[in-house]
Amino acid sequence: MAIRNDVNRQWVLKSRPPGPIQADTFEWREMPVPSVGAGEFLVRNLWLSFDPAQRAWLNDIKSYIAPVAIGEPMRAAAVGQVIESNHPDYRTGQLVQGVFGWQDYVVSKGGGAFPVAKIPPGVPPNMALSILGLTGLTAYFGMLEIGEPKPGQTVVVSSAAGATGSAAGQIAKIKGAANVIGIAGGKEKCAWLTREAHFDAAIDYKTDSIAKRLDELAPKGIDIYFDNVGGDTLYHCLDRLAFHGRIVVCGSISSGYGPTMGTGIPLTNYRSLLVNSARMEGFIVFNYAARYPEAVAQLAQWVKEGRIAYREDIAEGLEHAPETLKRLFIGANVGKQLMKVADPLLPVI
Ligand SMILES: NC(=O)c1ccc[n+]([C@@H]2O[C@H](COP(=O)([O-])OP(=O)(O)OC[C@H]3O[C@@H](n4cnc5c(N)ncnc54)[C@H](OP(=O)(O)O)[C@@H]3O)[C@@H](O)[C@H]2O)c1
Repeated sequence: MAIRNDVNRQWVLKSRPPGPIQADTFEWREMPVPSVGAGEFLVRNLWLSFDPAQRAWLNDIKSYIAPVAIGEPMRAAAVGQVIESNHPDYRTGQLVQGVFGWQDYVVSKGGGAFPVAKIPPGVPPNMALSILGLTGLTAYFGMLEIGEPKPGQTVVVSSAAGATGSAAGQIAKIKGAANVIGIAGGKEKCAWLTREAHFDAAIDYKTDSIAKRLDELAPKGIDIYFDNVGGDTLYHCLDRLAFHGRIVVCGSISSGYGPTMGTGIPLTNYRSLLVNSARMEGFIVFNYAARYPEAVAQLAQWVKEGRIAYREDIAEGLEHAPETLKRLFIGANVGKQLMKVADPLLPVI
């Protein structure tokens, strides 16, 4: 097959950055296309997902997952096509989803820490990584299982115009929240939230005072704060929690996800949890892996009914992977950050 004359382009981890990703963090390599052994199959990457957690996976510290090793291809969720197969469950031509990394080709056995899932026919590969992918699932489980929104409640979401935040706010709205407030960077993102994404109000944290706007928009306090950013936004929401309020600790991107775990601001007001009989709880979407099919079916239904709007920001070309990851940390992405690497080589079955 023609791919045997191809090369496997890869970005491997060269050095662990002390802060933001640097020019020498990753190294470009061109390797032979790997051969396929018994019980294995070869995947050719078509689409890559870009996730803030990828920066955290570069830190050699205790976390929910082992760090990417030096010299290893950068870890990334992806959709690819099975090109060769010696595995009874994976057929050539099938589209599959897994943690295939920043490279063109990967050999898999299908199971292990990151099982390979088949993309159901009719689901576009990009959608399988966006609203029906890990960010949609994170919003679904974080909001429903930890936030538990109730009719009439006030819900605040940060990084609200992003992939996870936009879905989280809309899920709260579907569940009857009366006042869903999004915090996002810039006029365009805020306008999209209230015009298309069913949010009741938006705060542009780049120009507005978050504290002042929260006092205006949530005068009776915040029932649920879905936290994607940490830092001073978390501080202001903690200060304004309602009785029995909940903080869903989804992410803390304002920390930059460097090797120290800090969020940039001491939470000297954590006593708000005590006086409001409130709860602050973290979660990792992987905790809910057994329930992904249920969530995907429900999210797809809500999208079809027009109850969840979502956006994708599509970069092209594997060579641009490091700079594409950086976009998440400067708010350059508009919706789910993806990369198209290639078109399918074989007819999709
Ligand atoms: N717990 C889990 O299992 C889980 C799973 C997936 C994702 N997450 C977390 O969910 C959050 C959102 O991830 P995503 O993949 O959906 O990304 P995203 O929200 O689509 O993109 C990241 C956004 O973060 C915002 N941002 C960047 N730096 C910031 C800063 N210093 N202060 C405030 N906002 C900043 C930017 O939006 P603006 O332009 O609005 O600033 C940027 O567009 C992240 O914290 C991520 O780690 C958690």
